[in-house]
Amino acid sequence: MTLKAIFMTAVSAALLFAVPASAAQLTVGFSQIGSESGWRAAETSVTKQQAAQRKVNLKIADAQQKQENQIKAIRSFIAQNVDAIFLAPVVASGWDAVLKEAKEAKIPVVLLDRDIDPSGKDLYLTAVTSDSVHEGVVAGEWLAKTVGDKPCNVVELQGTVGASVATNRKKGFDSVVAKHANLKVVRSQTGDFTRAKGKEVMESFIKAENGGKSICAVYAHNDDMMVGAIQAMKAAGLKPGKDVLTVSIDAVPDIFKAMADGEANATVELTPNMAGPALDAIMAYKDKGTVPPKWIQTESKLYTAADDPMKVYESKRGLGY
Ligand code: AHR
Repeated sequence: MTLKAIFMTAVSAALLFAVPASAAQLTVGFSQIGSESGWRAAETSVTKQQAAQRKVNLKIADAQQKQENQIKAIRSFIAQNVDAIFLAPVVASGWDAVLKEAKEAKIPVVLLDRDIDPSGKDLYLTAVTSDSVHEGVVAGEWLAKTVGDKPCNVVELQGTVGASVATNRKKGFDSVVAKHANLKVVRSQTGDFTRAKGKEVMESFIKAENGGKSICAVYAHNDDMMVGAIQAMKAAGLKPGKDVLTVSIDAVPDIFKAMADGEANATVELTPNMAGPALDAIMAYKDKGTVPPKWIQTESKLYTAADDPMKVYESKRGLGY
């Protein structure tokens, strides 16, 4: 066989085995933040389930809460020439340089559950997130409605400093407080989205607020910090859910258990399934060139003790919380 013939045979074979992106196995690199909360653990587990359902090859890099580890992971995904990168950005700023590298390598990036600064808007394909300002509004409105005209001193456990969701959940809640003269945020500090830190910060709030007697409500940017705060309140002889109202975000099973025990009052649900819509978007993009909307918004639903907490608890099992 001549050289030309060998070449032509190779080309025909390549054409024969070339399959459209939807049928070929896609490889997605996911830079996950870590495992700071029950919600985060569920997001990781649901992402694996969603990828397996679509036969997508998923590579997960756990950044252990560090942005520098996320940047390294993204560079490694670029070097491996993955088909797409999913990024749950621990903080909002500092992404432009590495996302420019991904763009230059023509690897689409999808943000999951958190946003980045507006300067990076052109550097990712789409973001699958909730409206985290709205989550704060929902939490604030529940509290305003529940206390009515009664004066209410609130302590706030914030999420990770610099995370879009922490900034926005604060902003949304504050916008409701601003409309109600009887509501006042008397203390506000980060608990870094962890149960242990939520407990520790709540202990200091209780000490500073007359053994907790002057605290009417706790607002936590996630349920794990609230579970820690509930432990601190109980240890101080307070009755969370009764003497002190609680409202938080995520809807993890443990908060429904606390609700069933009368120790928590309300939570705003954040779905752990950000990956399903993200994978569908990336597959349609690779297959047909369909450009997704810049923001794929997930629902933010309020749950209270009136919603049969144990039933919700049961329904969330098997999701990896
Ligand atoms: O970005 C989503 C937030 O991150 C969740 O509300 C919190 O539990 C997690 O750590």
